[in-house]
Amino acid sequence: MAAPQAARPVTAPDVRARKGDGTPLVMVTAYDAPSARVADGAGVDMILVGDSLAMVVLGYDDTLQVTTDDMAHHVAAVARTRPNALIVGDLPWLSYHVSREETVRNAATLVRAGAAAVKLEGGRKRLDAVQAILDTEIPVMGHLGLTPQSIHAIGGFKVQGKQLDVARAIVDDAVALAEAGCFAIVLECVPDAVARLVTDAVDVPTIGIGAGRHVDGQVLVYHDLLGLEDRVAPKFVRRYAEQKADATEAITRFAEDVREGRFPSSDETYHVADDVAEAIGLYGAATSS
Ligand code: KIV
Repeated sequence: MAAPQAARPVTAPDVRARKGDGTPLVMVTAYDAPSARVADGAGVDMILVGDSLAMVVLGYDDTLQVTTDDMAHHVAAVARTRPNALIVGDLPWLSYHVSREETVRNAATLVRAGAAAVKLEGGRKRLDAVQAILDTEIPVMGHLGLTPQSIHAIGGFKVQGKQLDVARAIVDDAVALAEAGCFAIVLECVPDAVARLVTDAVDVPTIGIGAGRHVDGQVLVYHDLLGLEDRVAPKFVRRYAEQKADATEAITRFAEDVREGRFPSSDETYHVADDVAEAIGLYGAATSS
């Protein structure tokens, strides 16, 4: 009898080949081993170790605060779980803006940490960076629309592409990224008509977040999807669990049990045999006299 085949990890070319196959791609963010195991156990196609790490895990107000080393630390934690899903490492702000050489080194740092592809934000402006990374044989995922690394330039976390000129620029950027060789493109917070236009214009999968249904896949942030992050509720987030409320309730009950003397019970305690307990008691009596 043939040995059972281990599932082969998803690759960037696998994702690229899914364009137009009728089954939407599923990507979710994860930042550590437990979240990666949960996401991979659910059978997602891709795990994005996103720079949203800065906001949902590290407590910053924007994504500009994380470095390549921070990202590599979290990519490595995800990679140690050996997921079947493709691991995409997010290149943080300033890691691909300074020079070709720095761009390539930073992308390689994420690959050495365990990513099998990297993502970067921006369109035609970033073609040099995309080309430099592709030249080192690292697959690149693009990211257009609301690009959080540009919040100061675009004036905040706002839907992009409501005006004709911006919508056109997004389509042109997407075509340029696809022609340059990106294997997929994230579209964040764009009207559905713009997402449809982009999806029809490029021959690589589009992965939407706040981009409606006319895309080739969807991505959500782990903490939003599971209700761990409830301070902001963007319209496009669907919460499939209320884990923050559940966790708070659980820890409240733990605190009550401790304070009321109900925790730990005898079953949750290590015991010694009666004769040893007796000897320990005698020892206590001997040392206290
Ligand atoms: O960092 C991130 O989580 C992202 C997704 C929103 C696509 O870039």
